[in-house]
Amino acid sequence: MRLFTVLFALMLVASIFLNVGLHNVSATEIVGGEKIFKKCKTCHQIGAGAKNRVGPHLNEIGGRVVGSVENFKYSNSLLELKEQAIRWEKPMLDKYLKEPRKFIQGTNMNFSGITDELERKKIIEFIWQVSESTQGSSVQENSLPEEILSIAGDRDYGEYLSSECATCHQASGKDEGIPSITNWPVKSFIIALHAYKNGNRKHPIMEMITKRLSNEEIASLAIFFNSINN
Ligand code: HEC
Ligand code: HEC
Repeated sequence: MRLFTVLFALMLVASIFLNVGLHNVSATEIVGGEKIFKKCKTCHQIGAGAKNRVGPHLNEIGGRVVGSVENFKYSNSLLELKEQAIRWEKPMLDKYLKEPRKFIQGTNMNFSGITDELERKKIIEFIWQVSESTQGSSVQENSLPEEILSIAGDRDYGEYLSSECATCHQASGKDEGIPSITNWPVKSFIIALHAYKNGNRKHPIMEMITKRLSNEEIASLAIFFNSINN
């Protein structure tokens, strides 16, 4: 493996921590994204029955391992990222779509990029939405058993556990790229964390964090964060 790929992998991990402000997008923006997706359609298909064209199909792209669609002939640059099990997350796709051949040197994606930040944001939200519906993850998220949803959490214990979360999610609830998690309905919070824990929702850091948490600990965190008003 070449040194530059190692450095690149580190850069990607770092990029997860940087703010690109892709959260809180409205439904109208997602509809806008579908229109902008026309720019990609010459080469990519997405949705039911999508096939590989000039580019690979983009179903389930949220959290998909880079370069992993079978029978698609990728460049070596993408295959090297595949070897390292790097997955597509929003901040990374944002950088790729901005300047494809600068961000991933040697990529075959013959596309000049999208300079407008809002356009990229819309397109990514659109792709993610379609990804989720092709994955059927929302159905699984909602079918969390009642005995997990109804566990009574302990607020003080939740407060104790929350110190780990505060390094990224600010207690003030400010949304600066990392989503605000204060004052959520308890059940939605529990469902969100279990989605990461079960791998139904992909995000390397949140998956790692939630896998260590017991059902009781998740319930306690839900109660604590629900109680913060701002
Ligand atoms: C001219 C054709 C073309 C256009 C236009 C294009 N792509 Fe691509 N795309 C490709 C090719 C070819 C690859 C494979 C690149 C490689 O192997 O290096 C690719 C790869 C990708 C990947 C990585 C897929 C994977 O399996 O890892 C994503 C994500 C992607 N494109 C998204 C987009 C989006 C979103 C747009 C529109 C804004 C777009 N592309 C426009 C040709 C195109
Ligand atoms: C290293 C940074 C980091 C830490 C630590 C962290 N998170 Fe996250 N969290 C994130 C990021 C980034 C996202 C957005 C992931 C995505 O796009 O799915 C997220 C997403 C979430 C979401 C879903 C938000 C939404 O809008 O759907 C919840 C809930 C959450 N985190 C709770 C927690 C809790 C509880 C802890 C502590 C036990 C924690 N997080 C620790 C970075 C972090």
